[in-house]
Amino acid sequence: MREELQKKFDEYKALGLALNMQRGQPGDDNFDISNPMLTIAGKEDMFVSGISLRNYPGGVYGLKEARELFAEMLKVKPEEVLCGNNSSLMMMSNLLMWAMLKGLRNSSGPWAGQKPKMIVTVPGYDRHFLLLETLGFDMVTVPIGPDGPDMDRVESLAASDSRIKGILFVPTYSNPTGDSISLSTAERLASMECAAPDFTIFADDAYVIHHLAENHPDVPSLVRVCEEKGNRDRIFVFGSTSKVTYAGAGVAAMASSPENLAWYAGLLGTQYIGPNKVEQYRHVKFIRQFPGGLEGLMKKHAELLKPKFEAVEEVLERELGGTGLARWTIPHGGYFISLDTAKPVADRVVKLAAEAGVSLTPAGATYPGGRDPNNSNIRLAPTRPPLGEVRKAMEIVALCIKLASE
Ligand SMILES: Cc1ncc(COP(=O)(O)O)c(C=O)c1O
Repeated sequence: MREELQKKFDEYKALGLALNMQRGQPGDDNFDISNPMLTIAGKEDMFVSGISLRNYPGGVYGLKEARELFAEMLKVKPEEVLCGNNSSLMMMSNLLMWAMLKGLRNSSGPWAGQKPKMIVTVPGYDRHFLLLETLGFDMVTVPIGPDGPDMDRVESLAASDSRIKGILFVPTYSNPTGDSISLSTAERLASMECAAPDFTIFADDAYVIHHLAENHPDVPSLVRVCEEKGNRDRIFVFGSTSKVTYAGAGVAAMASSPENLAWYAGLLGTQYIGPNKVEQYRHVKFIRQFPGGLEGLMKKHAELLKPKFEAVEEVLERELGGTGLARWTIPHGGYFISLDTAKPVADRVVKLAAEAGVSLTPAGATYPGGRDPNNSNIRLAPTRPPLGEVRKAMEIVALCIKLASE
């Protein structure tokens, strides 16, 4: 058996392939959908609702029309939205930096110096971990499952430790598991007792509209649920068009209570005069005129992405189904599939795959500090390579899992 696997592996190696399954990026065909946006706004568009897009005035909340668009995306009201520039991660980090420096609106003082801790879900997004670590947060990990964060753990942690200032996680189609929060999870997060009076939910809703299936789950709005539970200041939600139009060249936004936003806008106003309104307007005009609007645009993306996810699932099932060597998620949306090997061999699988010409997300990346305690989780990112490459790459990954598990 081993010789047979090794022979196949050597054959793949000899092909000198260079396949990449680690970048959570859209394909070029996804980007092409938004190309009309490049020329959609002309000089006749440069005054919108009495605001000159080319000049400073307009304020830090962003264009009214952009706030309305993001209100739809983030399932909130326009007055609960602040639109910024190209990166939601940047907005998130800016808020967290202010929290460290001054505390949030209802805090008694700066978080820095209080040895703040943040709950994060695992497996999770390496950039969240890097940001929190760099800012000086201690991270407390909690598993994520089909209903979202493990709420028994979250509730007991938040209730018992006043250094725990919040939770940072992805509520819809989580990176990398594809899990989304249920209504019960949302209600528990919104209403739980917290030892820290300024405990805050930082919800990175990067994939809130990135459905793969027509019959996708109806994920609750955390902002609405927090309001219903009398805790509307507890939540900040972030999103962007990075995987709707252009990655890193879109528009980002955050949502919270109007009072929280007013507080944040005051701080933001010390940092810049206002966001790029020309870009915001181009996005609004392009998405509004797209057949079916935001939903229509996301369906076009899904048409290109779904076959890639199906190819991963098909190869994994064919090669590893019933072997007990690995299990994997079958997401209804988002950008990733999360695979766990049964044996602690993730690092070996990633190394073998690299030798055979397939680059995977480094083993451990889905845990704080890059250390997966079980050495089992591998994040698969099928969105960027062409379909044929996804299939070939997954055949190699499956072979490497077999080899590494021998
Ligand atoms: C969960 C999550 N949040 C944020 C981002 C980055 O978003 P942005 O480009 O808006 O900063 C990504 C990109 O992969 C992501 O997966």
